[in-house]
Amino acid sequence: MTARKTAAKKTTPHATKRIPLRITDTTLRDAHQSLWATRMRTKDIMGIIDTIDQAGYYSLEVWGGATFDVCLRFLRENPWERLRMIKAHAPKTPLQMLLRGQNVVGYKNYPDDVLDRFVELACRNGVDIFRIFDALNDVRNMEQAIRSVKRYGGHAQGAISYTISPVHTVEKYVQLAKELQALEVDSLVIKDMAGILSPIMAEKLVSALVRETNIPIQLHTHATSGMGTATYVEGVRAGAGAIDCAISVMSSSSSQPPVETMLAIFNETPYHANLDVDCLRKICRYFEDLAPKRAAKNMPINPIDPDILVHHIPGGMISNLRSQLAQQDALDRLPEVLEELPRTRADMGYPPLVTPTSQIVGIQSVLNVLAGERYAMIPEETRNYVKGQYGRPPAPIDKKLAKTVLVKEKPITCRPADMLEPMLPTATDGVPAGLIESEEDVISYCIFPEVALEYFKWRAMPTEERPDPPVVLEQQKEMEEQAPASAPEIQRLLTNEDYRELNDLASRVAALQLQEFTIRRNDLTLSLRGSGVQMGSDIAPTAPAPASAASASPTSAPKTAAPPEPAAIDDGTPIPAPLNGTFYQSPGPGKPPFVKEGDTVNVGDTLCIVEAMKLFNQIKAPVAGKVLRILSQHGEPVQKGQPMMIIG
Ligand code: CO
Repeated sequence: MTARKTAAKKTTPHATKRIPLRITDTTLRDAHQSLWATRMRTKDIMGIIDTIDQAGYYSLEVWGGATFDVCLRFLRENPWERLRMIKAHAPKTPLQMLLRGQNVVGYKNYPDDVLDRFVELACRNGVDIFRIFDALNDVRNMEQAIRSVKRYGGHAQGAISYTISPVHTVEKYVQLAKELQALEVDSLVIKDMAGILSPIMAEKLVSALVRETNIPIQLHTHATSGMGTATYVEGVRAGAGAIDCAISVMSSSSSQPPVETMLAIFNETPYHANLDVDCLRKICRYFEDLAPKRAAKNMPINPIDPDILVHHIPGGMISNLRSQLAQQDALDRLPEVLEELPRTRADMGYPPLVTPTSQIVGIQSVLNVLAGERYAMIPEETRNYVKGQYGRPPAPIDKKLAKTVLVKEKPITCRPADMLEPMLPTATDGVPAGLIESEEDVISYCIFPEVALEYFKWRAMPTEERPDPPVVLEQQKEMEEQAPASAPEIQRLLTNEDYRELNDLASRVAALQLQEFTIRRNDLTLSLRGSGVQMGSDIAPTAPAPASAASASPTSAPKTAAPPEPAAIDDGTPIPAPLNGTFYQSPGPGKPPFVKEGDTVNVGDTLCIVEAMKLFNQIKAPVAGKVLRILSQHGEPVQKGQPMMIIG
């Protein structure tokens, strides 16, 4: 034995000082969630999983996060089946999942019985390592998950969700690590979902955690700000024994740093990852072939997001804000929202911005800007957050905001899941017989009832009768959107100022005798050909331009359609819709309306609901009086500024 060991040592240089470095591959979970909007198919994974299993990774992150929801909702795949297939083809390398603590793989707290059964089945189907996080770093939302993982023999990794704020100090993170240690986690991970952990901070934080806890530490970052590779170097030198990487073609931008690059860097250090470079080459080629089919459209031109270094808002969150503002015809207000967001986040006690707090803080900031008054509109999710139903915020909530929401109520102080009744005994009551085929189906249904039910119905159809999965329709729509826009569309999208500029450019292009000229402005790419103007994305086929920039009349180009003419208004106060959305007269199906014509209301009484950006906003009476007329129909769309009722 001893002789063989000595011989082996001689063949490797630096053998005496080599320190093993563990690398987790995120290609099959976080990387495609970050770059491909989670659209990797199980068959994509099956084409390469055996090679990935041979590469020598410490673990493969393949499940959880958004993959569960997207499998059912868009791909019409069974996430449990995916897990079993991966396990069958990757028997060597431990499989890892991202578990959102008490939120399991959803967006709200689920009762303990659902969480426990989920973990039991995940273990049984192949998950070895569970990375457990909570958006607020409230360990009360993680303790049941940790207990369950340990009960069923899994490795429980406790995550520290990293963010930057006046209250997020090294001391505070160490305190969190100690709370996780008390729950007997097997390892810790610093989860830097926004890619804002700097190399210097990584060194400080890892050193402190090693010194104070002595638990194995892993680093998880995103390459968004461009600091990721340096952050790993400093973190590993400070004592982190494991890092998360993706295969190069699935890395960088908002994904993880590239594994090949990290190997090359660490090769000149004592830290040794021992990966098979030939395998990595094969994996890289496989995804190079697949990427053109699967990559999300409209990828940013700049692989680095320099703004994140300033405002610390994750890139995915900004694209959500853009689409929410676009729904409200208010895309031009994005700069105001980005300025408002840190203020709203401070009011809400500096939550790290990750699912679901990123959605809550984001939409509240949008509402604060659009309403023209902060907290004039507060959706149910913000109310529940302020009431403590998501857990304990890192810092106290702003007193004024707390008072507005709570009035005289007290926020809850217990573990939020303690308020939830067990769900399993009656979970599938009401599901038509024959649709549920397994215990795993029951759990899918508990977590995403509507989505799972749709999937079960689709699955129950004979194969040839099944409609295309939503992901196929999505792709067809994208193809159509890439077609050049028509002249009326161009007129709708351009402002008068754009027209003046285009006229100017067109005459200059003509003077230069250029055949083709492309300009980028906001979300539009405009190709000028001669004196014509055409809109589309870069890869759209170019077609003869339908409109001439030089001849387009500025007055014929209103930026947005005007709201419908208001109905003749009686004497009284009109109640305008605060947002583009859907008008609801009652809180839910079968419930009586908030008010009827002829009712008397006091200031602050709820009049109706306007649903916008998937959140429900109760509209309160600004004056006391009688409901003279209700002008909108239940369930019908309303536009911002449109009077919904008259009070006089
Ligand atoms: Co991540």
